[in-house]
Amino acid sequence: MFDVNSVRRDFPMIVNNPDLIYFDNGATTYKPQAVIDAITSFYHDYTSNIERGEYPTAIMADKAYMNTRKVIARMINCQDRQICFMGNITACLNQIAYGLGRDLHEGDTVLISYAEHASNVLPWFRLKRDKGINIRYVPLDMQGNLKLDELEECFDDSVKVISLAYVTNVLGSHQPIREVCKIAHRHDALVVVDAAQAIGHIKIDVEDLDVDLLCFSSHKMCGPDGVGVLYGKYDLLQQMEPILLGGGMNARFEADGTIILKDAPERFEAGTPDIEGVIGLAAAAEYLMNIGLDDIHEYEKELRSYFIDKMKKLDNVEIYNPDIEAGPVAFNVKGIFAQDVATYLSTKNIAVRSGNHCAKILHNLIGVDQSVRASLYFYNTKEEIDRFVDEISKTTLEATIDVFL
Ligand code: ALA
Repeated sequence: MFDVNSVRRDFPMIVNNPDLIYFDNGATTYKPQAVIDAITSFYHDYTSNIERGEYPTAIMADKAYMNTRKVIARMINCQDRQICFMGNITACLNQIAYGLGRDLHEGDTVLISYAEHASNVLPWFRLKRDKGINIRYVPLDMQGNLKLDELEECFDDSVKVISLAYVTNVLGSHQPIREVCKIAHRHDALVVVDAAQAIGHIKIDVEDLDVDLLCFSSHKMCGPDGVGVLYGKYDLLQQMEPILLGGGMNARFEADGTIILKDAPERFEAGTPDIEGVIGLAAAAEYLMNIGLDDIHEYEKELRSYFIDKMKKLDNVEIYNPDIEAGPVAFNVKGIFAQDVATYLSTKNIAVRSGNHCAKILHNLIGVDQSVRASLYFYNTKEEIDRFVDEISKTTLEATIDVFL
């Protein structure tokens, strides 16, 4: 049975900052003690590099690192060898665009949306610049939801890839990835999914989705920073050229320039990885799975509906995503610059993100460049929402100016 008060005791950031309302979980999430303990134990008890040492602590580190592949594979329903660790999801998306881009040619098309984060836009834009591919945008409604019934029309023979966020980072629109895969595969296009804002919020089953490549960051799911996870269909991983070359990812190289790569996943893990981060990620995934991702999602839906009902009653706000089921509330206080609202809220001990949230082409959809984003997670409470909405109701131009005087 999900109990938010008991969950809150697992997070030192909450225990140590009882008055801080942290509504910036879209940016990063808090870490439970179990994750901190896993990292500390690596530093205290078995610090070593991996895949290089024959001594006991190195073998312990190897095992712990490999265990994370197993845990993440269980979490998203795939095989261990389909899980590659990188520096963050940005590195994963760059790897994907680089890897797939080698087989793209002038006139080929990649479909994305206006609601994508920079990481799922700029690597494709580089291919447009360097290889002459086309970027086209799939149709979204005003709250960022994919218009599935119009998607088929986006495909012609030139479309090779469609790359979408599972849950968009500003509006929280939850895209119908399984249906996207069906349509894309009918047209022989590959589906890439940025699951940064979905992981740890909903259950993800890559087999069931039939997605070709999917990636996410550890720090968005209560895990450490500095770790990205790339999942791929194995044949595709084996065909993709890694961006990074170096130690750990090659089977052999010769003086004449011959390079033989290792199989996936190692071929994508050049150099010493963030070992403690990867080990901490397993603890985060176990922690979330023990609570239950369905329970987390249900609670987030309940929080969101409570939150939005209260926000809708305020006449000083404009909300851009009133109807989504779970996820952030993106809004502006009428007549006040988003960053000033965020600064004002920070004086009330409330943390939110403001600005364009790295989604710099979203204004094509919602008509504004800047917004305030309140993004909650399963350790937030209705009491925090009450305090937040109360502060927003009192946010006036005069009050925000006072902060700067
Ligand atoms: N991608 C993160 C966000 O949306 C940083 O805030």
